[in-house]
Amino acid sequence: MHLSGERTRVIIYTGKGGVGKTSVSAATALRCAKLGYRTIAMSTDSAHSLADSLDVPLTGEIKKVGKNLDAIEVDVIHEMETRWQEIGKYLSDFMVSQGLDPISSKEMTVWPGMELMSALFYIEEFKKAGEYDVVVMDTAPTAETLRLLSFPDTADWYFDKMYKIFKNTVRLARATVGKVMSMPMPTDAFLNDLDHLKDRMKTVRQILLDSETTSVRLVLNPEKMVINETKRAYTYLSLYNLTVECIVVNRLLPEDARGHYPEVKYEEQSKYMQMIEESFSPLKMLKSYQSSTEVVGKKSLEVLAEQLFGDTDPSQVYTTEKSMEIYSKDGVDQLSLKLPFSSKDQVELYKSNDVLIVTVGWYKRSVALPYSLVKKEVRKAEFKDGRLVISFK
Ligand SMILES: Nc1ncnc2c1ncn2[C@@H]1O[C@H](COP(=O)(O)OP(=O)(O)O)[C@@H](O)[C@H]1O
Ligand SMILES: [Mg+2]
Repeated sequence: MHLSGERTRVIIYTGKGGVGKTSVSAATALRCAKLGYRTIAMSTDSAHSLADSLDVPLTGEIKKVGKNLDAIEVDVIHEMETRWQEIGKYLSDFMVSQGLDPISSKEMTVWPGMELMSALFYIEEFKKAGEYDVVVMDTAPTAETLRLLSFPDTADWYFDKMYKIFKNTVRLARATVGKVMSMPMPTDAFLNDLDHLKDRMKTVRQILLDSETTSVRLVLNPEKMVINETKRAYTYLSLYNLTVECIVVNRLLPEDARGHYPEVKYEEQSKYMQMIEESFSPLKMLKSYQSSTEVVGKKSLEVLAEQLFGDTDPSQVYTTEKSMEIYSKDGVDQLSLKLPFSSKDQVELYKSNDVLIVTVGWYKRSVALPYSLVKKEVRKAEFKDGRLVISFK
């Protein structure tokens, strides 16, 4: 597969804090660049560590860090001052008019999710300009990223509302000429920016939901808490209709190091691998191993990339199919799971609090339910085109 010039591939790594998102992102970007793809690694985690991982200094500006490789740590204050000038300025004037001091006002214009939104806008630009073949995104820990990835939806609502308020302000101001407004007037430039932003948000949404372009890779470790959080992330990403294409199990104990770690650790690990299997199968699984040294800098990242990808293409689309879907159809909440080699007569469903356990013969799937379904009962389950469709009431 060669992507050059035709399309931009967007790979989003997410997962719980400390599991190895940054290391895996950096390793992926390095390997992509080495294969000749014009690549950019973008960190959208405000606690940036991409520079440390790549062992190069990075800023809020795109910087060349190697052959075919650029990198950036998205910096929201910088974005506000450069790319979001009109909006930033108006919001901060607005806050000042409400009595906030100018410095706090500047901080207040940065709302949660801005890093990711800025990063998404970069992607939109890259795609338009055909500048990169591969964009690798290193994101904040799961909970935050989930909120951010749903941002185009929320933002649509947010901008609609903001837009209406400002339009009304303008109208009201016109009707009350001469009266002093307690709010600064939004300028035309600001309203145009807002309009423009809304359109771009739509494009971003299309890019995110296009499974041939964008997919999420969930990074995890073989540990109970991590597995549980990752399951929940998988559910919510599915709920937002994003395509999770694979999981990356990092920090596995290497087989050839048996003897270096207590045997009981290996037993524990195989139990957790079983849990991972039950939670994410039939998703593709990439593996990388616990390194005895720190994973920092090109050399050790290359070792990580080798473990993860071998001689395969790290930018490949592992699947465009969503193996879990959650949606509402004719007012009925449904959850659909891809279950290979199954037929209805073998299916058993068991719901325990927020987990749904599906067994089909020897095959077991354990699904973390979204809050909206936790309180509901399973009404029926049926097989359609290799998927089990579960209806809730
Ligand atoms: N396979 C591994 N073996 C050893 N150390 C690792 C491995 N993967 C990550 N680390 C280390 O664990 C720490 C957290 O990794 P990092 O990639 O920053 O995680 P995250 O971005 O998910 O918070 C870093 O110090 C990193 O060097
Ligand atoms: Mg990180």
